[in-house]
Amino acid sequence: MTLTAPHRTDLTGDAAMDDKVPAIPQNAPQSVITWVNDVAKLTKPANIHWCDGSAQEYDALTRTMIETGTLLRLNPEHRPYSFLARSDPKDVARVEARTFICSEDPDDAGPTNNWRDPKEMRTTLTELFDGSMRGRTMYVIPFSMGPLGSPLAKLGVQVTDSPYVVASMAIMTRMGAKALDLIGPKTEWVPAVHSVGAPLQDGDEDVPWPSNDTKYISHFPESREIWSFGSAYGGNALLAKKSFALRIASVIARDEGWLAEHMLILKVTNPRGRVFHVAAAFPSACGKTNLAMMRPSIPGWKVETIGDDIAWLRPGPDGRLRAINPEAGFFGVAPGTSPATNATAVETIWGNTIFTNVALRDDGDVWWEGLTDKAPDHLTDWQGNDWTPASGTPAAHPNSRFTVSARQAPSIADTWDDPNGVVLDAIIFGGRRAHNVPLVVEARDWEHGVFMGANISSERTAAAEGKVGELRRDPFAMMPFCGYNMADHWSHWLAMGESLRKNAVVPRIFQVNWFRKGDDGRFLWPGFAENSRVLAWILDRVDGQVGATDTPIGLVPRDGGIDRAGIDVTDEDWAELFAIDRDAWLDELAGTEEFLRTFGDRLPAALPNQLQDIRRRLQDT
Ligand code: GTP
Ligand code: SPV
Ligand code: MN
Repeated sequence: MTLTAPHRTDLTGDAAMDDKVPAIPQNAPQSVITWVNDVAKLTKPANIHWCDGSAQEYDALTRTMIETGTLLRLNPEHRPYSFLARSDPKDVARVEARTFICSEDPDDAGPTNNWRDPKEMRTTLTELFDGSMRGRTMYVIPFSMGPLGSPLAKLGVQVTDSPYVVASMAIMTRMGAKALDLIGPKTEWVPAVHSVGAPLQDGDEDVPWPSNDTKYISHFPESREIWSFGSAYGGNALLAKKSFALRIASVIARDEGWLAEHMLILKVTNPRGRVFHVAAAFPSACGKTNLAMMRPSIPGWKVETIGDDIAWLRPGPDGRLRAINPEAGFFGVAPGTSPATNATAVETIWGNTIFTNVALRDDGDVWWEGLTDKAPDHLTDWQGNDWTPASGTPAAHPNSRFTVSARQAPSIADTWDDPNGVVLDAIIFGGRRAHNVPLVVEARDWEHGVFMGANISSERTAAAEGKVGELRRDPFAMMPFCGYNMADHWSHWLAMGESLRKNAVVPRIFQVNWFRKGDDGRFLWPGFAENSRVLAWILDRVDGQVGATDTPIGLVPRDGGIDRAGIDVTDEDWAELFAIDRDAWLDELAGTEEFLRTFGDRLPAALPNQLQDIRRRLQDT
């Protein structure tokens, strides 16, 4: 392997030592060195490579992965500096059933998480990780979530035996020497251990996508540690993302008085030149990236991107809620991305992109369902097989993704990496709901908004294993990502609202649903760029420009409040988009009540109170 000899160390005795240069970077703090050595003692890698985050390092890594067959270089004429990775077909999405929260007390994980006793989990993991990196290089990745040195940022160090994970982390985070520099003797940092669980014995031939059928994505919220075994895909393996920035960060945020949420962040400028910032929580594969990159169809409005998946929200010195995107890249769903649905994403991924599990065109470029109206006559599908439109199987995996630097988005806001974050004006909750939930509803107040967030349910997508289309509860779009008891998360939101209210203007809360369907199964709302009409209404509300109609479930636009000129939505469809079916809503509330009950005495009273209030209003209609 051609990787940067200056960083090679020999811990096990089976790799050559280079005694001319220090094996460990000079700026490495003792706490990190000690931990790295401990992990290496357990996992027994052949080499250790401390990542510096340089372009040369990325280049060397990708070249190595081309040699091992992990990456295929795409045709530089069409897609410069870009690669295709094909995962093991058994390792294609987050595995929620194998994701664990190991708190001392099971009630601290709560009924929506898989709990394991931390001691038992440590025993299990010690056995699994013992020798798990044999024959491989262990990479040490220091990273910052949030702009380097920002008061809102947090540091972490991931070790991994997957070069694919290193390359992905290089795009998705601020990774390398500069992040390591920020770890002083007293700095807190989150340790994250990752192994694909496929040690190589003498003479073993490697496979392009090593992984293990046994998978454990384990979190220790009290000691703020992450241990992930067996998968190299997405959130299972890029531990800075869901494991750190959501599961562990949500716990840190609870303790420190802020919020770590599964939200995109937008900067919106209205025709009068007023700037707003909006954060929106939608479940996985429900349109965060689309909304984050949207090009408004209505004149005079401008939308810019700050983040597409994760937001850290914290009150600033002026008492107002501020947001940062802790990530530095996008790990976006490929299928359905096209010039019509997301032209910005299409432009963003012109090059310097890692594609995973998409289809390969004969000309060495990529393709996925939805990219063009007509599929090419011949492709190589995501598993490397010949494919034609007659094959009857998807050419790209439904959870195939692109990994690309945020800076490459033509829509990126100049404030996207402001170390102080941006002031939030509105928070939106949404989900994929064929029925019941109107196009847009405004919460009466913060507590009602928290109820809306807690009440999100959505049809399952391919982002995690499970039956696609099945309706499931996904409160705050955080069901798989909250590192502590979801009811405590709601209490924390309520407390945050109270303290924000004391000092300053509180963001207004809304609920949206782009996915309502007619009886014939067709989407009632055109969505995508046309969602700007809904965004405009939301921000006109914040700006005090439009009124609203009170309904039992919240405030909806008055007739004409949302501009319908130039879109093909009939009066009947429009009525259906806002229909509130009393019986269906009473049923929905009965389901919610049952769900809330599962939290026992952890449940904050505000939620059943909100529920009763809405029920009473419905019964009075
Ligand atoms: P994660 O990265 O998994 O957290 O998901 P995400 O929320 O960023 O998902 P993304 O934006 O990639 O969602 C993509 C899916 O949402 C695709 O199936 C899109 O077609 C669909 N989608 C996004 N916006 C709209 C819309 O306005 N209307 C309709 N009908 N579908 C939409
Ligand atoms: C999600 O599933 O919400 C994602 C993709 O954003 S992953 O990083 O795999 O979790
Ligand atoms: Mn996500």
